[in-house]
Amino acid sequence: MKALVLSGGKGTRLRPITHTSAKQLVPVANKPILFYGLEAIADSGIKDVGIIVGDTKNEIMSAVGDGKKFGIKVKYIPQEAPLGLAHAVKIAQSFLKDDEFVMYLGDNLIRDGIKSFVDEFRKKKPNSQILLAKVPNPQQFGVAELKDGKIVKLVEKPKQPKSDLALVGVYMFDKNIFEAVHKIKPSWRGELEITDAIQYLVEKKFNVIPHIINGWWKDTGKLEDMLEANRIILDTLKKENLGKVENSTIEGKVVIQKNAEIKNSTIRGPVIIGENCKIFNSYIGPFTSVYFNTVIENSEIEHSIILENSKVKDVKRVADSLIGQNVEVLKSEKKPQAYRIMVGDSSRVEII
Ligand code: TTP
Repeated sequence: MKALVLSGGKGTRLRPITHTSAKQLVPVANKPILFYGLEAIADSGIKDVGIIVGDTKNEIMSAVGDGKKFGIKVKYIPQEAPLGLAHAVKIAQSFLKDDEFVMYLGDNLIRDGIKSFVDEFRKKKPNSQILLAKVPNPQQFGVAELKDGKIVKLVEKPKQPKSDLALVGVYMFDKNIFEAVHKIKPSWRGELEITDAIQYLVEKKFNVIPHIINGWWKDTGKLEDMLEANRIILDTLKKENLGKVENSTIEGKVVIQKNAEIKNSTIRGPVIIGENCKIFNSYIGPFTSVYFNTVIENSEIEHSIILENSKVKDVKRVADSLIGQNVEVLKSEKKPQAYRIMVGDSSRVEII
């Protein structure tokens, strides 16, 4: 069995971060989201992994390399444009050949991994197995209608959903999916939809079985989802201190990575502080991840993700935020007193 991981796409919902970097590499609890998926694939016993890449190809390639560190062998498959999930399957045909495969969306996070689903697929040998989860907002997902436990219809982002069962970003197929992806036509949004391809399989009486999952999963396409994923994963970490702590209070589950320095501060977990970070005279509150080489001074931060090489200084309180790489958030005493801001396109700043 092989795996096909989708790591191209536009990432419009996570701009401006995705103007300059891959959303699949945004860290959740200081580890790129994509790495959780690759680890889950390796854990299910799959070794041959194709990764679909787009504009952020170089970044993904330098982060993942040949896959050895995950115990897998990676082949990169460039997609000329994000023409849809089924398009990604189509261009991967020469890599997948006649093998069964699991398709994994690189921005999805499934807390309990995928081993049990892959094992079930191997045992039952259907033509396809799809994972479904109950969601409160099915309009934003591909939705499945079931009858007597069987899939009767799949619709992509329906305006009036007939069920609350959304497609989770993990699918398993045998070679019959290629017939489907060659037959279907692009949707109104110009993409070859995987829901249409699966619907084709259903209509042609191939055996497509659903598996409803109860464990936590997240499609991390938006800021709130990233923060939620960060919350859930931080809560699973074990306390550890590999840094230097001086005159500070460390409460609850706090991970301090190598060479981080914490002085005159309070850290209230769950929190992770990355390598070489400096936290001085500050409060870092629950559900915060600070990636490597970041400096936080005289500030308070809570429920946020801060990426590498950034600086937050003399800021009263930051919450519910995603701060990118090489960003500076500072207080200025300069007159006239004013907000002086240089933010990228499609950014969002809330001030008090
Ligand atoms: P989506 O989140 O559905 O699409 P997107 O990345 O373009 O984001 P947005 O809707 O915010 O613009 O994609 C799910 C995953 O699949 C994600 O990891 C990107 C990847 N993908 C591809 O690799 N190729 C594609 O053609 C598409 C549509 C997505």
